[in-house]
Amino acid sequence: MAVERVNVARARGLRWLLVLLLLCPNVYTEPITISIAVGTAAVLTGYLSYPRFYCYWSECCEPERPLNQSGLQADLRGKFFGQHLAQEVIYRALSGFMTNTNPKKPLALSLHGWSGTGKNFVSKIIADNIYGLGMNSKFVHLFVATHHFPHDSNLQQYKDQLHTWIRGNVTLCPRNLFIFDEMDKMHPELINAIKPFLEYYDNIDGVSYRNSIFIFLSNGGGDLITRKVLDFWTEGKQREDLQLQDFESVISLGIFNNQKSGFWHSSLIDKNLIDFFVPFLPLEYRHVKQCIIAEMQHRGKPVNMELVEKVAREMTYYPKEQKLFSDKGCKTVSAKLDFYL
Ligand SMILES: *[C@@H]1O[C@H](CO)[C@@H](O)[C@H](O)[C@H]1NC(C)=O
Ligand SMILES: *[C@@H]1O[C@H](CO)[C@@H](O)[C@H](O)[C@H]1NC(C)=O
Repeated sequence: MAVERVNVARARGLRWLLVLLLLCPNVYTEPITISIAVGTAAVLTGYLSYPRFYCYWSECCEPERPLNQSGLQADLRGKFFGQHLAQEVIYRALSGFMTNTNPKKPLALSLHGWSGTGKNFVSKIIADNIYGLGMNSKFVHLFVATHHFPHDSNLQQYKDQLHTWIRGNVTLCPRNLFIFDEMDKMHPELINAIKPFLEYYDNIDGVSYRNSIFIFLSNGGGDLITRKVLDFWTEGKQREDLQLQDFESVISLGIFNNQKSGFWHSSLIDKNLIDFFVPFLPLEYRHVKQCIIAEMQHRGKPVNMELVEKVAREMTYYPKEQKLFSDKGCKTVSAKLDFYL
């Protein structure tokens, strides 16, 4: 790592030297100017080899990169609505894992719920609070099943690729975040190919995966989660009183028995390689309003309650009789606001 950094810095130094030579054509003939140019380049190179200076300009690997706990908590509370369970589980799981100096396995979170409930959004919040560059960090990897692995006929190629990428990136830096979106559309064999990385191995061929984080997003179980929330509501209970235990078996059994959800026959669940199942509840009218208000504030616009209500009412709600849950969650809020603002 250090050698690589210095090499990069040297390359930059050389580049500076070239720039100086190009900018001052007369240095070709003047030995004094040449010495000044070389000296300047040397000083710059020296500076650039200094890790802190270098890491200021280019993202470096920090094996012990800490989680911004207060930042994560603030984001989960202030930007993420209607998900009291996900809020709590994600905060506990991450702060526990990231303060553990000797984790026995990588952290594996499986997020479940319909689209628009905030699974991608919360992944972004996690990335933001670990890496300064968030989703743009070179240590954050997002794989979307239908985008990255669309053709079953290329399965072997995808498996090799995935293997090489995970291994290559973790070799360069132990703390990587891998996000797999649309797990329900991912080929079971591809899911099995990820399995060895999640195991309780000390290392695999000299590479330890124990400091990395894997997040799996899936619509699988969404219908069961909705049913549970609806039952609770029908019984006149408060949504906020729903406990994690109410969902854990629902989710793991549901996905396991449902071939379509893609987790089917996968040994991830079978072997307890997933540390936390996180249910994402369907969002209600009041949560949609919170999303709209947050988006207005984010854009620096004054909050206009009339418009908030108008946009929230434009969303469609299900089931047909109760019209309780927004069928796109908060997903189209931003586009709708574009239209009105
Ligand atoms: C942690 O997050 C908070 C809130 O986003 C931010 O103000 C603070 O600067 C962050 N701390 C670090 C060390 O990045
Ligand atoms: C790291 O992962 C990315 C995909 O996110 C891939 O393009 C890149 O080649 C990987 N790096 C290594 C060294 O394997």
